[in-house]
Amino acid sequence: MNGDAPKLPSPRGPLSEAVVTMLSGRGDVVAPPVGDADPFGEDLQLALYVCYELHYRGFSGVDDAWEWDPGLLRVRGELERVFEAGLRARVAGGDDVDEVLEPLLVEPVDGDGLSYHLKDRGDRRQLREYVVHRSIYHLKEADPHAWVIPRLTGRAKAALVAVEFDEFGGGRAEMMHSRLFADLMEELDLDPAYGAYLDVAPAQMLAVVNMMSLFGLHRSLRGALTGHFAAAEITTSPSARRMALALERLGVGPRGTLFFTEHVEADAVHEQVLRTDVLGDLLEREPELAADVVFGVQATELVEERFGAHVLGCWRAAEPVSSLLRPLP
Ligand SMILES: [Fe+2]
Ligand SMILES: [Fe+2]
Repeated sequence: MNGDAPKLPSPRGPLSEAVVTMLSGRGDVVAPPVGDADPFGEDLQLALYVCYELHYRGFSGVDDAWEWDPGLLRVRGELERVFEAGLRARVAGGDDVDEVLEPLLVEPVDGDGLSYHLKDRGDRRQLREYVVHRSIYHLKEADPHAWVIPRLTGRAKAALVAVEFDEFGGGRAEMMHSRLFADLMEELDLDPAYGAYLDVAPAQMLAVVNMMSLFGLHRSLRGALTGHFAAAEITTSPSARRMALALERLGVGPRGTLFFTEHVEADAVHEQVLRTDVLGDLLEREPELAADVVFGVQATELVEERFGAHVLGCWRAAEPVSSLLRPLP
């Protein structure tokens, strides 16, 4: 057990209720059938998130042995099957990697995503909400991608590890991207503790992280993980530039903006390394993975679009509401 680990979250339906009850040791629970659950719904996404978290930091008061409990793994497998099928059903597919990466390299002149909104007219309340959402990933930044390292070889492996070295601070704990994000949270008077906001993060955000864990934890999805990683690095550099401007406009100091300013330069390089060295080498060795790489790119776009649409939908409603499950105090 891990004393610093987050608390188990509150369930959001029968599936997450069953998983949380099992982990809290309140007896043997038979999970309800997963089959007809909404792959993107609050209940399935939280249940899956809790299963995956056992591979990262775990939960306080929960026995570490649950990580490899066959009964829980069977439940997780069913949740994953529904989620993966949901992703596959909603993307175009194909096997032309350049064709799906090319459009990501072009910045729309009149972009309308979250970072554009925050740069041009976001307020401090919206910025804090955005940071709370993203904390679900950024406080474990680049951990899901580390699972793929043993599944790669040669130049693809060496290059991916070089990117991960940067993500983890290049040997300096205070420069780990997860640490820089925690610094930003402190600057915004938010709780930087790992998992502190799990209970208010909606399914749209959990799906972004669950997708990474799904791709990372399955060797069979190594192509999808590298495709996802490349897509994420390509799109981060320009959006980090907009976020740095948003923070400056809203009066956040340099300790807060460092997370984003660091990513403007770093991800411009990471993008090249991922495309040329990681994907280039991987597809030379295993050309049959091209369709999985394409799936990883398209699934990333899908979950990010769903997340952005949810948040902007809440903020731009006739009666604006919080995009979190509960508004921040
Ligand atoms: Fe990073
Ligand atoms: Fe990066």
